[in-house]
Amino acid sequence: MLKYAKLFDWIGGKKWLSTQLNQLLKDNLKKNKKIKYYLEPFAGGLGSAIFSLKTLKEQGIETIYLNDINSTIISIYKTIKLDYSDLIEEYWKLELEYQKYVPEEAMGLKKTKDKEILKPLLEPARDYYMARRAEFNECKKNDPASLKTMALFLFVSKHCFNGVYRENSKGGYNSPFNWEQGIVKKEDIIDRFKEHHEVFNDFNIVFENLNAFEFIEKYFYLNEEALFYFDPPYLNENIGENKYNEDHFGLPQQKTLLNIISRLRNSIFSNHYLDIFKSFCESEKFDFITIDRSNKMSSNNDTRKKAVSEILAWRFK
Ligand SMILES: C[S@@+](CC[C@H](N)C(=O)[O-])C[C@H]1O[C@@H](n2cnc3c(N)ncnc32)[C@H](O)[C@@H]1O
Repeated sequence: MLKYAKLFDWIGGKKWLSTQLNQLLKDNLKKNKKIKYYLEPFAGGLGSAIFSLKTLKEQGIETIYLNDINSTIISIYKTIKLDYSDLIEEYWKLELEYQKYVPEEAMGLKKTKDKEILKPLLEPARDYYMARRAEFNECKKNDPASLKTMALFLFVSKHCFNGVYRENSKGGYNSPFNWEQGIVKKEDIIDRFKEHHEVFNDFNIVFENLNAFEFIEKYFYLNEEALFYFDPPYLNENIGENKYNEDHFGLPQQKTLLNIISRLRNSIFSNHYLDIFKSFCESEKFDFITIDRSNKMSSNNDTRKKAVSEILAWRFK
């Protein structure tokens, strides 16, 4: 088991699904010894991939291809795989500067219980966070894969509300400040990066930064010996599309994706449990399970508690 399994929190992260996913992989890869490649076109924060690595290796997977359209996170993974020393230093400069704005008295206070005392104490820290968030949005527009952009991303995702990366419709990072964040330890960051560096190299992981459709096209030739896991932005029941990311993945894209999935030999997909996916499973003879869980998309307490059913579907030929 990895000690530091996550580099950062990511919306739609599948750590919570790891038990079901591992069981599914184990059972089916055991029966399908021909499969040598594992591919995720929507790898995001690696919540699904990282917790499946041990099973994938034990079941004979030789190469893992992880792709996402987000250039900053893929650039972070590639940098960690190769040499992360400059990235740590660039990021650490931001943490050191931030620490100057966090007074001793604010440490250990809770934002719910001690809100009145905490807020005035941390206002300068919040202002520093907001300025770095604005800087990140600017840098991301100019060069999403630069050292500066990666460092700013790591900083803002460490200090934002709930630790979850969220973009507005224009593609700007808009998560508010987390009033309760403590001080980050440099040793922890180094250990976390070191662990991921080893894992990325030991498991022969190849990172790609393509639109999912280009990624699938590029690796379609592996189809006979491959297993694809698709975890796209979820289709939203109410508005018909999911708008949490600037790279819109709506109903037309979901339909195109299903069409591609139907042509693949071995695949798994997850999404909201909606009619479109249920009918697809029935017509294409996919097995599936449904899972109920609370909706983590919203910061509003009422919607947070609302149960949303999800589907995990698979077909191995
Ligand atoms: C549900 S999340 C994946 C979460 C991931 N399985 C995890 O556990 O962290 C969906 C991902 O799809 C990515 N994405 C959105 N549109 C895309 C596209 N057209 N091509 C590739 N990736 C895309 C988003 O950046 C996001 O990381």
